[in-house]
Amino acid sequence: MRPMPSLLAALALASTPMLAQAESAATPEQMQATRAVTGELLKTLSGKLQESMKANGPAESISVCKTIAPQIALGLADKTGWKITRVGTRVRNVDMGTPNVWQHKALAHLNADLKSGAKPETLEWSEVVTENGMPTLHYAKAIVLQTQCLACHGTAAQLAPGVADKLKANYPHDQATGYAPGQLRGAVVISRPL
Ligand code: HEC
Repeated sequence: MRPMPSLLAALALASTPMLAQAESAATPEQMQATRAVTGELLKTLSGKLQESMKANGPAESISVCKTIAPQIALGLADKTGWKITRVGTRVRNVDMGTPNVWQHKALAHLNADLKSGAKPETLEWSEVVTENGMPTLHYAKAIVLQTQCLACHGTAAQLAPGVADKLKANYPHDQATGYAPGQLRGAVVISRPL
């Protein structure tokens, strides 16, 4: 074998992870299984929230979002071995809802797609990156604000009675009010090895 000039060797080494990134992709089955889990999270949470809103009203339903939303995500994470969470474009739960660097980028893509007319129901963004030598799928499913969310995420005038006080007590750094229907509220995000 001819000796490789050291600069070329260094370049070849440096470009290996990028090549791996460009070449690996999730199979349609893997994408479908990932979508199914985000679908299950959103469906279960929305069912519980609607039930509680009807029975107890918005202020008393804040606890559903506070305890049940993370529980559902953790339950699905346990079942699949994947990382699953919800993040916000403006955050209410600082610990769980703050996007990391990749999630931030995903939200920017989702927002741009939403503004250029993408359908909220199917809006998603994903990427396969090599982490610790393993191809890993990062996936984000858009969560778009609907009218029924305004009771807890709308302007001060739109928040349901008692909600502002409860939010202040539970989330002193809450940023997640003042949204309008149709805006990107956040995403369900999953990261999983392939
Ligand atoms: C009863 C009040 C209430 C309603 C109604 C409500 N939310 Fe929330 N939402 C909350 C609370 C409380 C949290 C913080 C949950 C936590 O602690 O993880 C939250 C958190 C979120 C998050 C996670 C990111 C973050 O900022 O922490 C998203 C995304 C979200 N809500 C979207 C929605 C959407 C979309 C709707 C309407 C379909 C909606 N919410 C309706 C109270 C509500």
